[in-house]
Amino acid sequence: MTATHPGAVVAGGLDVARLRHDFPVLRAVVNGRPLAYLDNGATSQKPRAVVEAESDFALLENANVHRGVHTLSQRATARYDAVREQLRRFLNAAVADEIVFTSGTTAAINLVAQSYGRSVLRPGDEILLSEMEHHSNIVPWQLVAEAVGARIRAIPVTGTGELDLDAVPALLTDRTRIVAITHVSNVLGTVNPVRRIADLAHAAGAVVLVDGAQGVPHLPVDVQALGADFYVASAHKMYGPTGVGFLYGRLALLEAMPPWQGGGGMIQTVSFEGTTYAPVPARFEAGTPPVCQVMGLGAAIDYLGQLDWAAVQRHEAELLGYAIERVGTVPGVRFIGTAREQVGVLSFVLEGIHPHDVGTVLDLHGVAVRASHHCAQPLMRRFGVSGTVRASFALYNTRAEVDQLVGGLREARKVFGS
Ligand code: ALA
Repeated sequence: MTATHPGAVVAGGLDVARLRHDFPVLRAVVNGRPLAYLDNGATSQKPRAVVEAESDFALLENANVHRGVHTLSQRATARYDAVREQLRRFLNAAVADEIVFTSGTTAAINLVAQSYGRSVLRPGDEILLSEMEHHSNIVPWQLVAEAVGARIRAIPVTGTGELDLDAVPALLTDRTRIVAITHVSNVLGTVNPVRRIADLAHAAGAVVLVDGAQGVPHLPVDVQALGADFYVASAHKMYGPTGVGFLYGRLALLEAMPPWQGGGGMIQTVSFEGTTYAPVPARFEAGTPPVCQVMGLGAAIDYLGQLDWAAVQRHEAELLGYAIERVGTVPGVRFIGTAREQVGVLSFVLEGIHPHDVGTVLDLHGVAVRASHHCAQPLMRRFGVSGTVRASFALYNTRAEVDQLVGGLREARKVFGS
C-alpha cells in the first residue's frame, strides 16, 4: 500500500514535493499511517536513479573491472574509474588516486588503522579520539593499539554535546600520532570544528582521520579545506547503495602505506619468493570490488550534484529548528545535544520511558526513528543514559512528518503515563 504524505511542500526554496517522487518508499503506509521516515542517520532512502543505475548495469552491462580485455570489462572499468573521478570532484581531492573504494566507513577506518596505524605506531604512542565517536571510530583503533602497545585518549564532550576544545592542547602530546574524529556526530548532530582540530593535530605532528559518514549527506565537503589527511564515508547514508563507501587519503600517505588485505587486483607480480604490490589505489582494493554499487554511488553523486545545495541546507536547517521547537513542547522531553552547530539529527529522551518503548509507539504511528545507544556507548555514559530516541533527517523530510513524530510522542506519554 502507498499513500502520498500530506506534508509534501516547497520548503526553504527546495521543491520537496517533487523530490519525494524520486523516492517511492516514502509513499509507504506503515501500521495504517503514512510512513514518516526519520531514520536517515542509519541509512537514507535511495532515489530511483540510483537503483536504476545499479540494475541497468547488472542487467545490461555487467562485467568485472580491471581484468578483461573484452569490451564489457573495458566499459565497466572506465565507468568504475569515472566514479572515482566523480568522488574526487565531490570531495575536492587533488587527484583521483587519492580515492579508494571500500565496503563502507567501517572498512575504510579499519584499513587506515591496520595499514597506516600498524606501520607508524610504536609502544607508548597515542591515538586521540573523542567521546562522541561511533564504535567504528573507536574499536578499530583499540585493535591496533592493543597489537602495538599504543594508548587511546579521548577529547571530552561538553554538556551541550560539543567537543571540549580547551582540553585538546593538553591531550595532544609528542606521542600523538593519529587524531580520529567525526565530522558530524551520529547521535548529537554536532558539527565539529574539523579544521581547527586538524591545525592543532598537525602542529603536534599527528595525522587526522575524519569520519564523514554523517557529514557528507548534509554538508559540502572539501577535504583540502578541512585539512583532513583521511576522510571516510558510506554511500548508503548519502542516498546511494549499501556495500560501498570510500577512503580519501592524501596521496603521499597512501603511497607510503603497506597493503592491508591481500588478493587479486592489488599486486604487481606474485611468486612464492615474494610479491610486489600495485600502486595506489589498486593496492587497497583487493578482490572484486562492489562494481554495481559503485555505479549506484556515481548516480547518487549525480543526483546530489543537480540539487541547489544552498536550498537543501536551508530546508534541513529550518526542519531541524522546527523539530527542536515542536518536540520540545512534549512533556518530559530532554534533548541530548544542543550544539550551536547541529545538522540532521535530534536526540532526546522522554523522562521515565525507555527509548525502545518510545520507538515502538512511534512505529505504531508510522514513524521510523532509531532508539538505542546508536553504537556510541561512551557518549551514552557521558550523558548518563542507556540510549536515546533519535530522529534523523534527510532532504525529503517535511514539517508534517515532524508533526507526526510529535503526535506519536504525545501518545507514548499517554500510554506510559508521566
Ligand atoms: N551508524 C549508523 C547510525 O548511527 C548505523 O544509525
